[in-house]
Amino acid sequence: MCGIVAYVGPKDAAPILLEGLQRLEYRGYDSAGLVVSNKGLKMRKVKGRVADLAAAVPARFRGGLGIGHTRWATHGVPNDVNAHPHLDTAQRVAVVHNGIIENAGELRAKLAADGAVFVSETDTEVLAHLIARTVEDTDSLEEAVRKALKSIVGTYGIAVLDAQRAGEIVVARNGSPIVIGIGEKEMFAASDVAALIRYTRQVVHLEDGELAVLKADGFRTFTMDARATSKEPLTVDWDAGHYDTGGYEHYLLKEISDQPDSVTRTLSGRLDGRFNIAHLGGLNLDARETRAFRRVKIIGCGSAYYAGQIGAQLIEELARIPADAEPASEFRYRSPVVEHDTLYVAVSQSGETYDTLAAVQELKRKGGRVLGVVNAVGSAIAREVDGGVYLHAGPEVSVASTKAFTSTAVAFALIALHFGRVHDLSPADGRRIVEGLKRLPDQIEEILKQGEAIEALARKYAPHPSMMFVGRVRGYPVAREGAQKLKEVSYVHAEAYPASELKHGPLALIGPEMPTVAIVPDDELLDKNLTTLGEIRARGGKVLMVGHRVPDAELAEDVIVVPKNEVELDPILLGIPLQLFAYHAAVALARDVDKPRNLAKSVTVE
Ligand code: F6R
Repeated sequence: MCGIVAYVGPKDAAPILLEGLQRLEYRGYDSAGLVVSNKGLKMRKVKGRVADLAAAVPARFRGGLGIGHTRWATHGVPNDVNAHPHLDTAQRVAVVHNGIIENAGELRAKLAADGAVFVSETDTEVLAHLIARTVEDTDSLEEAVRKALKSIVGTYGIAVLDAQRAGEIVVARNGSPIVIGIGEKEMFAASDVAALIRYTRQVVHLEDGELAVLKADGFRTFTMDARATSKEPLTVDWDAGHYDTGGYEHYLLKEISDQPDSVTRTLSGRLDGRFNIAHLGGLNLDARETRAFRRVKIIGCGSAYYAGQIGAQLIEELARIPADAEPASEFRYRSPVVEHDTLYVAVSQSGETYDTLAAVQELKRKGGRVLGVVNAVGSAIAREVDGGVYLHAGPEVSVASTKAFTSTAVAFALIALHFGRVHDLSPADGRRIVEGLKRLPDQIEEILKQGEAIEALARKYAPHPSMMFVGRVRGYPVAREGAQKLKEVSYVHAEAYPASELKHGPLALIGPEMPTVAIVPDDELLDKNLTTLGEIRARGGKVLMVGHRVPDAELAEDVIVVPKNEVELDPILLGIPLQLFAYHAAVALARDVDKPRNLAKSVTVE
């Protein structure tokens, strides 16, 4: 959802900005631009990808101070003019921005009446004019930025430079991430560490309402009221290699293939085979507090929400605490009743999704106890919650979530085991789950070995314009996520329904032209699911079954057999062939697999 990068130091900024933008392209890829300051501003902006920008930036763009941006359009269509950076009328101040300025219309009218000449349709240009107005009077960029930000309503992560102040960049954050990278006599800032990791692993995350001045020899952070804040640098665990495709054709395939390792990392150090429990100290809940909760409510968006649905089922099954999941984007707008004996759990890979963050903030404001299940260490949601579980899945670069989805489900299995053993889950059942979790990485490896067979199935089904995904109870969130993956990366229309709901309406869609992917675990609902397959086949529908055994030939045209685990943990494995299916369908249809149209990875706007 727009990526920002900034550099100040002795090297030429342009190649560093371009490299950083390439790493941030997952955040938006409809246009890109950069500006370098060196005796005046040199700027290039293009509609298109960062590669198009790189081709447009001439070698003469020298100078060690610059800011860049890759855009996911909100205000104004993607074109060269609406691409960032944006400048004021005198072309002195340059701004890149991620977020939305809600009162841009009103400010624009006032500034235009004062003589500002607007060239773009963006909300961001307002900021450039506002900052320019003060910078002339104060000769202090940081003061001008603070003053301008006080008059805007909305969200932002920004980087600003002033052509007349060599060697300094001001960054600020409110709702959209900014991370500062500390180098050797050089400083960086970006929306995500991915853009900095090649140069430094020492980082500092800005909080909402915080600003920083970056100079080559250091940085200073402060509040909107100019009070200095103190920051402890963090060392990032991952190195640059984790952000490469590692020899795979696409990040998506790399990330699907990484799951034996990413799941191992999620489990690492957390399973205790002696007491058959999970160690989750980060939850910050003792046994008494855990027993006091009467209900668990999980919130997240998109795939994080579907993983939360798997989590709710695990918690109900293993801990017998009523649990459900809801899209965070709906939850935050319906003025939720916040109960003191409900435990809230926010799920987010990026830790930056604005809808989820806003829901967490609303919960906290009303006194709710909120945990996080988050991948990105130090992210906004991770910092906002009262405790939680990090996934340690590693960086997820492809826009479609895969390994973070699986690790989220695994993290919920750990939480459910932990809660279960504090409640009534027997040591024997605890052992069953501990052993089942330990088997997961090898079983994922077995599924990955079926890659070629799944590719052949994807090629067979990809030409259908529409597909139905069905599952019952444990299979239903798996079906939803399978449909989501297929839609996102292949643009094939996919509907997901509880298998039991088919006959209440959507069965009317079934026919030879609309195949069904059916999730059929070997559990107590197997016979019911097989009956559903019979109903689909009787209407001439093709069935691709994903389950644990091959059924009678007349029930399914194709079958993907997945290794069996404990019934409660089966959904974790059943989802993996569907990721491969979506990936290979997208490749067969020649889609832009890692950057599907209209999407961006971290949705940091409403
Ligand atoms: C789907 C996908 C999105 C995200 C959603 C939440 O593949 O990537 O549906 O799951 O935008 O993102 P996070 O988990 O970063 O909060």
